[in-house]
Parts: sequence; structure tokens; C-alpha cells
Amino acid sequence: MLKAFDSNVKCVGILKGWKGFMENLTIPLNIEEHDDLHTIGGTFLYTSRTNPFEELQKVTSKEEKEKIKEEIAKKMAKQFELLDIDALIAIGGDDTLGVANSMHKYGNVNVVGCPKTIDNDLAGTDYTFGFWSAVQLASNTIDNLTTTARSHQRIFVVEIMGRDAGFLTMYSGISGGADIILVPETPFSFQNHIVDVLKRRVNAGHKYHIIACSEGAYPSDESLEKDFKTISKETINQLPKDVFGNPLLTRLNISQILTKEINLREDLKAEFKKNDTNFECRDVVLGHTMRAGTPNSFDRILGLRLGLAAMKLVLNNDFGKMVALKGTNIKGVPLSEGSKKKYINPDEDEVELRNLLVKTRYKSREN
Ligand code: F6P
Repeated sequence: MLKAFDSNVKCVGILKGWKGFMENLTIPLNIEEHDDLHTIGGTFLYTSRTNPFEELQKVTSKEEKEKIKEEIAKKMAKQFELLDIDALIAIGGDDTLGVANSMHKYGNVNVVGCPKTIDNDLAGTDYTFGFWSAVQLASNTIDNLTTTARSHQRIFVVEIMGRDAGFLTMYSGISGGADIILVPETPFSFQNHIVDVLKRRVNAGHKYHIIACSEGAYPSDESLEKDFKTISKETINQLPKDVFGNPLLTRLNISQILTKEINLREDLKAEFKKNDTNFECRDVVLGHTMRAGTPNSFDRILGLRLGLAAMKLVLNNDFGKMVALKGTNIKGVPLSEGSKKKYINPDEDEVELRNLLVKTRYKSREN
């Protein structure tokens, strides 16, 4: 907006994401009212979970898919004339930018992508804006829950957003000092990663325990079959899907399942009793409290830097790119690559750090 205004480029805001794009819902954007948007959370343009390419999910043949993609993208390209726009800056996560990419590829239109999601799961950028604000909120909540966990000598299972990517859980779990951190990228064993760790911790003298668990974390097939009494493989397979085809993992409510399973474990109860410690487990779903409030300073600056870079690409007629943070620099990367999904790589030092944190906590007292 700042760069557009300074370059005498007229801007309109499209309301409700792709829904508004297809239905001509726009508002004028003027600098007087919108020069401090970086200080405000959420989006005053509203958002929606609309996928213009939704019908592709019903098609199985590759050729048919390509044909339909082209048809939809051409229809979307026509909207540029109807909306009287020369270029579009699409702001969002992998779903939004995936649509922008298909539109660019098949409709040959002037699109630039800007990575914004709390999930941080976009391949082309080190960080998306929104991520660190959500990490801070979740980390603060973990800190706060420690007070009540300590007082009641309880186990807390804290469920953290992020769909099928574990960045939010890994970072806020490490930051908040969680004792067990479960992410979707590595299916967990209920016995090894939860029950055995809790036993070792209680034997080492710990009186309360925080388990940070991704909403998309799930047990390995072996563990599901062997260790679970309240769910089976079918429970996971039968989950409904959203308009982009993602399983609605929040419907599973993994923290509630884990809490029930922990409370059912008589062997764990006995171990806690032996150590004169209460045995009670509670679940807390952080949910939308993580996508709330004002952005932190890192996200404000990152959002502004990405916005500036996106506008420069538009002014240079350099389309089909996504602006991205690479190290400390902002760069333009191909939208096709940048909008792909990113997951936690098991070789990353965050994973090593998480494992060390869990292990050293009980080891130090066992010896
Ligand atoms: O993609 C962002 C995200 O916050 C995910 O972490 C979460 O699974 C999802 O959105 C929740 O979506 P909704 O607000 O539509 O329930």
C-alpha cells in the first residue's frame, strides 16, 4: 500500500478472498485510512475458505484435471477485466497461493504471491508473517498453564494449531518449555513417547507435565493398534475433508483422545501413586486463541517488507513470483515453488533440541 501510494498506483481491496474475487466484492483502498494496517491483527478485508478449483477433487483422470484447471483459470482471468485490475497480489497460505499459482499458470495473468499464515508451512520462505505472533501466544499460554499444572500436580495436553505441519507446536513447545512435543511429521508411539516418558519423569521427581501436541499429530499404525482403547485407524480415515481436500484434523481432537487414554492407564496411575504424586490429566485446545490479537513486531516488519517487495515486482512487471524471506533478505521466488508445502525436516536442529530437552529433563534427576 505504501509503495503503491508513493508510485501513484490505484489499489482496491478484494473482500473475502477468492469468493470476493469471483463475485466482484471490492472496496477502494486509500492511504489515509489504511496506512497503519501492519499494527492490526487479522484482515479488515475479511477472508473465506473458498477454493475456485474445488470441483477438481471429484475428477481422477489427469487429462480431465488439466482441462478443468484451464477452464477455471480462464474464467478467473476474465475477472481482471470485470474488476478493472492490471495485477493481483494474493496474500495467504498454501491454499490461497496454490490457487494464485494455477491462475497464473493456466490463465496467464499478472499475479504476485505474498506468504501469510500462522502455520509457516510454505516451502519458498523461511518464515511467513503471522507465525511468530502465534508462537508467542501459544508459548505464553504454555507458561501460564504451568502455574495451574504445578498447583494441582497435573498433566496438561495442550493442542496447538498448524494442520499437518508441526512448526507452531515445535517452536511454541520449545519456547514454553513443554516436556513432550508431538508433531505431525513423525507419528508418535503412545507407549514410548508419552507413557514411558511420563513414568521416567515422575520417577525423577517431576510433579507436573506439559505435553504440547499438534492438532495434526497422530500415532503410528502400530501404536494405534496396540496402545489405544478409545480410537482406531478408521477414526482417522473417516475424518471429513475441507474444500481444499485437507482432512479436518481439528475434528479428531487429539488432545482429548490423549487425555482419555492417559487417564485410563492404570500402570501410569500406579507409578504416580508410588511417587506420591497426583494422577490427573486435562486437555486444553488453544485453537483460535492463537490466531488472535495484534501481531508482534517481527511480523509487522516482515509483513511490511514483503508488501514492499510484492509491489516492486508489480511495478517491474515481474509476475508469477512469491515474495519470500531468505535468511535476512527478501527475495522473489517462483510462485510454483514457493507456494508448495513445507514440513519440519527431521534433520533440523529444532528436532535435536526438542529431543534433548525431553531427555535431559528426566536424565538429570535419574542419575
Ligand atoms: O491454516 C491456518 C489455520 O489456523 C490452521 O492452523 C488451522 O488448522 C486452521 O487454520 C483452522 O481453520 P478454521 O479457522 O477455518 O477452523
